[in-house]
Amino acid sequence: MAKQVPCGVRIAGCGSAVPDKRLTNADLAAMVDTSDEWICQRTGIRERRILDPDKGETQLWLATTGLRNALDDAGMAGSDLDLVIHASVTSEMACPSNACRIAAAVDAQPAGAFDIVAACCGFVYAMNVADSLVRTGRYRSIGVVGCDAMTTAVDPTDRSVAILFGDAAGAAILVRDDDLNRGCIHQTLNADGRTWPSLFIPRKPSDLPPDREDSGARMGTLRMDGREVYKFAVGKFREVIEDALTATGLGVDDISQFVCHQSNIRIIESAMDKIGLPPEKVYINIDRFGNSSAGSVGLCLDQLWKAGKINEGETIIMVAFGGGLTWSSSVWKV
Ligand code: COA
Repeated sequence: MAKQVPCGVRIAGCGSAVPDKRLTNADLAAMVDTSDEWICQRTGIRERRILDPDKGETQLWLATTGLRNALDDAGMAGSDLDLVIHASVTSEMACPSNACRIAAAVDAQPAGAFDIVAACCGFVYAMNVADSLVRTGRYRSIGVVGCDAMTTAVDPTDRSVAILFGDAAGAAILVRDDDLNRGCIHQTLNADGRTWPSLFIPRKPSDLPPDREDSGARMGTLRMDGREVYKFAVGKFREVIEDALTATGLGVDDISQFVCHQSNIRIIESAMDKIGLPPEKVYINIDRFGNSSAGSVGLCLDQLWKAGKINEGETIIMVAFGGGLTWSSSVWKV
């Protein structure tokens, strides 16, 4: 445990993991009543990566691989971590947390470990919490990993959700830095729990809202009111980005990358249009990976990081929204 001296926060490394197995729109069209054209037009997704249970791939494996990758990038070992935070809605067990098992897999004991459930906001929530903890001076280094294996939580015969999701992990290693101005310079964590029936995963029939007719999908699979979530997301994306710019006094020109949750290309493009974000500053990978929930923003961050598109001294904004409903922003001086 570090001395309690306030400090800044540096991203020491990033990592990610996706399974090799691809699920294309053509594969889906062979399973449910849909088409490549419909999916591309309405979502921008062409294919997603999915776990291959025949190869023994699990959500835990994916999250662990993502965090290992970030540790390698930072040139650190698991034993260098004081804490592991894992964000997911598809953790293997309710107890222990996946974070404990991920920490064990990278040999991080006795580092603390806990899970965050904030759906697609999970990675951004976790980065905000981790930054705040390092900033107090109590923790020197925290491993953050957002990971969802959404294909384990969608009914493959339900075309309204099966087309959207893929499996991925994104991770970052945060360490203390002497520069107090470095790290997360503005953050928001928000939720409106009254809206939860728009997006949820029931465990048992009594979890269903009283006025809801069950679609017949099995328990443990995602229920989503796509139109409601779409309306919410279009408004929130714009609001969250504009609020972050106002709060920091920064303009679009001051931001090197807007790292947005990959939910639907139309939702991202609507924010780009309304705020006037240039395409080269808004990374898009939804065409190749779909919506990977808590994995999404971390996966984008790592791909940008490895491509050399996020450099020391630059400012980036991460934004996400998801089940809860939740929404979150995180502005970083890298
Ligand atoms: N293939 C073909 N047709 C489909 C379909 C599919 N996979 N899914 C729905 N349809 C049909 C509907 O039955 C409907 O038919 P109808 O007009 O005869 O009733 C029609 O397409 C339009 O459905 P609608 O739900 O209005 O489509 P949409 O334009 O809203 O697109 C989503 C659906 C899910 C792509 C869109 O609502 C969305 O992206 N919402 C946000 C979801 C999200 O981001 N979730 C994650 C949050 S982190």
